[in-house]
Amino acid sequence: MLAGVTGAVVPVLGWALLALTVLVFLPLAGRATRALPAKVRLCRLGPRGRRRRVYVHSVASTRPGAGAELMTSLAGEADQKGWLLVLDAGNERLGTYYSRFGFARGGAVKMPDGTLRVRMWRQPQDWRGSR
Ligand SMILES: CC(C)(COP(=O)(O)OP(=O)(O)OC[C@H]1O[C@@H](n2cnc3c(N)ncnc32)[C@H](O)[C@@H]1OP(=O)(O)O)[C@@H](O)C(=O)NCCC(=O)NCCS
Repeated sequence: MLAGVTGAVVPVLGWALLALTVLVFLPLAGRATRALPAKVRLCRLGPRGRRRRVYVHSVASTRPGAGAELMTSLAGEADQKGWLLVLDAGNERLGTYYSRFGFARGGAVKMPDGTLRVRMWRQPQDWRGSR
């Protein structure tokens, strides 16, 4: 009797879990798909070339000055290792902020949610390794 009830409930629970997962992830997938053309335009802005690149996904500071310390140390490591740093600043003001650390502005793209992404990159300086 118990085995019969379990046998009937488990598939229902499985389908319910699947439906819930789809419901939760579908909007995320939709948003990501809508943003795809803008992301492609952003990538086309550059940088070009085959140099090893490191994408700086997000920068956040925990106290005043920590942002500059982090960016200066990252730039130093990139120079040492010959990395081309790439990032997408969330607005023009942040673009000005990143230019302090040697990032050049490649161009800007408006995302489907109305926000701006400014593609920027920084070539390694005084790097003597193989290119
Ligand atoms: C942007 C951020 C990393 C700066 O770090 P910080 O430690 O606060 O600031 P720093 O000491 O490095 O630099 C101070 C300068 O940055 C400027 N600044 C601070 N926040 C800024 C912001 N959101 N946009 C543009 N400039 C900013 C200040 O006006 C200051 O300028 P000044 O030197 O001319 O007075 C920090 O404000 C932060 O974590 N912001 C939230 C997360 C974020 O927006 N990250 C960027 C995602 S692309």
